Amino acid sequence: MSCFRACIFDLDGVITDTAHYHFLAWQRLARSVGVEFDLADNDQLKGVGRMESLEFILAKSARVFSDPEKDALAHQKNEDYKELIREISPKDILPGIQEAFDWLKAEGWKIGLASASRNAPQVISSLGIEGVFDYVADAGVIPNGKPAPDIFLDVAEAFGLRGSECIGVEDAAAGVTAIKAAGMTAIGVGGAETLREADVVLPTTEMLLENGLKALVG
Ligand code: BG6
Ligand code: MG
Repeated sequence: MSCFRACIFDLDGVITDTAHYHFLAWQRLARSVGVEFDLADNDQLKGVGRMESLEFILAKSARVFSDPEKDALAHQKNEDYKELIREISPKDILPGIQEAFDWLKAEGWKIGLASASRNAPQVISSLGIEGVFDYVADAGVIPNGKPAPDIFLDVAEAFGLRGSECIGVEDAAAGVTAIKAAGMTAIGVGGAETLREADVVLPTTEMLLENGLKALVG
């Protein structure tokens, strides 16, 4: 009998490919302040909150930005991001995710969402999956962002579970670190090198059920 009782999902880059839209919006912002921003830079920002991400990009510039300027840039990035996600629909759920949800429900596990994004409620609503989650963490009230364990611990606490009873699924190095710091088992989706701290790394979500969840349950 498995010791796991819950699966806690990241959203961007795990359930749907919004990680790419975040990249496009950050790249546009970076160019607007004369800074280059490539996919390797973006890898470091996956899972990282909006203002911390902005600071990372602005640190590449020789200019010093005032707080009001930073607020305006963060706002602009979010407007661009919202425009990019405007047409998201259930067909944008990544392969293998719905099968994993169905299996978890059938097995009686809790399903949680631990996304750093303030846009997460809008995205899961557009995907038509808001009813899947037993609990959705509110990124706006979590004290420390990933790689701190806080957001994953918040979900475990809502379920009345210990970290050891939860599996976390992440595409970000910062997210995998957060899962492990919460005492949970980590499934990483993406590159094995970036996600080397994870207990299981899968190249895509297609294998999540068979090679991830079922493999861990044994
Ligand atoms: C994370 C993404 O899920 O949310 C990051 O991986 C993003 O790329 C962060 O910066 C914050 O998102 P938002 O929508 O609140 O700006
Ligand atoms: Mg992610």
